[in-house]
Amino acid sequence: MPARRSGVLISYHTSDNKWLKRLRDWLTPLESAKKTQVWDRTVVEVGQQPEVEYQRALEEAKVAIPLITPVYLADEALSNELKSILAVVGHDLALLWIAVDYSPYESTVLSEYEPANRADMPLKALGIRAGKEMRCIYDQITAKLGRYSTNLPIDRPKISGRKQEVDDLVRLLRQDGNRIVVLTGSSGIGKTIVAEEVANQLLYDFDDGILWIALSELNDPSQVRGEIARKLDSIKPDRVMEENLLDYIKGRKMLVVLDNFESVPAAAPFVADLLNQAPQFKVLITSHDPFPACVSGQQEYELPPLDEHDSVQLMLDLARQFLDQTQLDEHQVETLTMTAKGLAGNPLAIRVSAGDIVDRWTREIPDS
Ligand SMILES: Nc1ncnc2c1ncn2[C@@H]1O[C@H](COP(=O)(O)OP(=O)(O)OP(=O)(O)O)[C@@H](O)[C@H]1O
Ligand SMILES: [Mg+2]
Repeated sequence: MPARRSGVLISYHTSDNKWLKRLRDWLTPLESAKKTQVWDRTVVEVGQQPEVEYQRALEEAKVAIPLITPVYLADEALSNELKSILAVVGHDLALLWIAVDYSPYESTVLSEYEPANRADMPLKALGIRAGKEMRCIYDQITAKLGRYSTNLPIDRPKISGRKQEVDDLVRLLRQDGNRIVVLTGSSGIGKTIVAEEVANQLLYDFDDGILWIALSELNDPSQVRGEIARKLDSIKPDRVMEENLLDYIKGRKMLVVLDNFESVPAAAPFVADLLNQAPQFKVLITSHDPFPACVSGQQEYELPPLDEHDSVQLMLDLARQFLDQTQLDEHQVETLTMTAKGLAGNPLAIRVSAGDIVDRWTREIPDS
């Protein structure tokens, strides 16, 4: 029996490598969860039949994405694969094709199917707007794939650096025995933005979804249970209530992020109890302080300051953004760089300083 369809199968012509790379950059959460498979001639091992191998890959896919260019359409083997896709489209397989450049799409069989981007606005023509368009492509793909329930915001701020830390935390949360990962660090160091990035990369690891709970507004630990139930009910209309929360999550494979746990440290026994009773449930905590209880499978991770390079990068990016311009002059770069280096790698301080400096410039007050 074929495996349950679950992933994305991307087919492309090897000369379109640049576009493939771009697409994969945008599909990071899917790549990270090993939900994508890329198909080209080089995938086939010696002695295997390409057609048979392709059929096998296609049987496992839930979404097929051909990167369409004239060379793709002119390639006999790829056109045959396209025919295989078209033969099963609709049978639980979705086809979203991506137009890379101007090609005679209308005269191909593809014109009857849904493109992931507008064919009259192919990727090559998007220029500076490509970021937004690629986001839209990503959303379409994940929607077809059945994006798992989450209340994570779709539009997260761009993160500077932190690749190592995000990778470490993703790895910790994927490890079998680990149940609770506690991300600590001083105020403004970047715990929330890093936790958002980590949760986003894990979207396809937790079959029953990822829940984001902001605790900073709560002042009573007894409110945590109700808050989890409310947020859960908002993403899964399953009538989850405070009273039946435990029953509901018992058999579920979920990740709950508790942001700013230092606001409600007395809720630690409640969290420990949830972990005890729901064996497939994991928790990511951000907090100024260590977790005030001992739970088996607990991991602590202290977020270090941003390194100097990423601090400067963040400062320059923010200044460009606040000034709404793509270029900075030499003097501006120097001032921003010097300031960023003196802020001990604290992104919040960098953000506030960038705002102050830009404010001073726009009001034409000379630097002191
Ligand atoms: N690596 C980064 N790239 C871009 N922006 C960042 C980065 N790290 C932090 N920021 C920005 O700096 C500010 C502070 O970060 P964040 O809110 O994540 O800190 P925090 O550690 O969660 O703070 P708190 O302890 O007060 O909750 C936010 O505006 C955030 O978007
Ligand atoms: Mg925070």
